[in-house]
Amino acid sequence: MERSRSIDDLRNAARRRLPRSVFDFIDGGAEDEATLLGNRAAYRRHSFLPKTLADVAAPDLSTTILGRPAALPLIAGPTGASGFLWPRGDLAIAAAAHDLGIPFALSTSASVSIEDIAARASGAIWFQCYIFKQRDFSDGLIARAAKAGYDGLVITVDFPVGGNRERDFRNDFSIPFKYTARNVTDFALHPRWALSMVRGGTPQLENLRGFSASNDVGTVASSVGRNYDASFSWDDLSRIRDAWPRKLIVKGIARPEEAERLVALGCDAVVVSNHGGRQLDGAVATLDALPAVARAVAGRAEVFVDGGIRRGSDMVKALALGANAVLVGRATLFGTAAGGQDGAARALSILRDEFRRCMQLCGTARVSEIGRDLLVPTDVP
Ligand SMILES: Cc1cc2nc3c(=O)[nH]c(=O)nc-3n(C[C@H](O)[C@H](O)[C@H](O)COP(=O)(O)O)c2cc1C
Repeated sequence: MERSRSIDDLRNAARRRLPRSVFDFIDGGAEDEATLLGNRAAYRRHSFLPKTLADVAAPDLSTTILGRPAALPLIAGPTGASGFLWPRGDLAIAAAAHDLGIPFALSTSASVSIEDIAARASGAIWFQCYIFKQRDFSDGLIARAAKAGYDGLVITVDFPVGGNRERDFRNDFSIPFKYTARNVTDFALHPRWALSMVRGGTPQLENLRGFSASNDVGTVASSVGRNYDASFSWDDLSRIRDAWPRKLIVKGIARPEEAERLVALGCDAVVVSNHGGRQLDGAVATLDALPAVARAVAGRAEVFVDGGIRRGSDMVKALALGANAVLVGRATLFGTAAGGQDGAARALSILRDEFRRCMQLCGTARVSEIGRDLLVPTDVP
């Protein structure tokens, strides 16, 4: 793991270990992948205007996230199907996040149960819930998370229907796996991954056990989102706010007036997100949407952003443009795919070390010193 110096190195290691179809599932985005690429490109359009001669000998990376101390302004975001990269992959990410001292969000589509994570992860944990057409199933998941003591509930709102992820269609990728001749060859060519799947037992979407709407609920990718409720709207969210006793985080917004409305509704945090470019292709890059959302929220709730964060310097830029913290998805998935918990921990420690160095090189000794004045716009051809 030590040989991986960057998130990109971990991505390459993940590409080597995983079958092509599984790698494409985590790496890819919707349609032309314009938003996937746009999320990254937005970071290059801002350059640092570094301060010097500041005492940065002992930078303090710590912050608070939703009232709890965090070692740095970073959150391991919800990512379904981590267990298809490494046995009990969700647990690997949860443990790595706990060891680093940052929150972990468990996906609805995880392969470890709500209760299992709560029993094993002692740091800040959030549960991310999709809203199913069978509303009582989602209500049941939320009730389980409340009972298990989760600190936060994340409602993802950028997923009324599944994104059109063409790589998955081309690869015939689905979960549970389809054993076509091509997939079997792909799996056989990646024996380290295949063996770990055989040894660990076929991963299940643990939180969806007992779901009765259709027998393909466990199938993500080609039929992703088929059972989600596209009619979910403001009144429904308001009811969830009333019922959920702890922090409520709404993930997947881009518009400032929606952020305002979410604050008025009593949300504790909003996440500027386009699902890592996996949903609406052509959606605005999250870094570009962030400043207006942060202005609208004006400190009344916390503002997080995700999409395209691959460097500690990206974290500094996001904070400079108004985020309280950032979420990562693929960074920890690449790490997990490359080396399980060690790999997830490596991904997080790479981001932490880069974040620290970037803060020092920018002349900032505390997270609160990271402000808009650190950045200038840059024309990128
Ligand atoms: C393989 C994969 C699975 C994901 N699963 C979920 C999920 O179950 N729930 C959710 O809210 N977001 C999910 N996301 C989106 C992430 O939480 C996050 O918004 C996105 O990955 C951020 O972009 P990044 O991957 O460039 O960091 C997933 C992303 C990936 C790559």
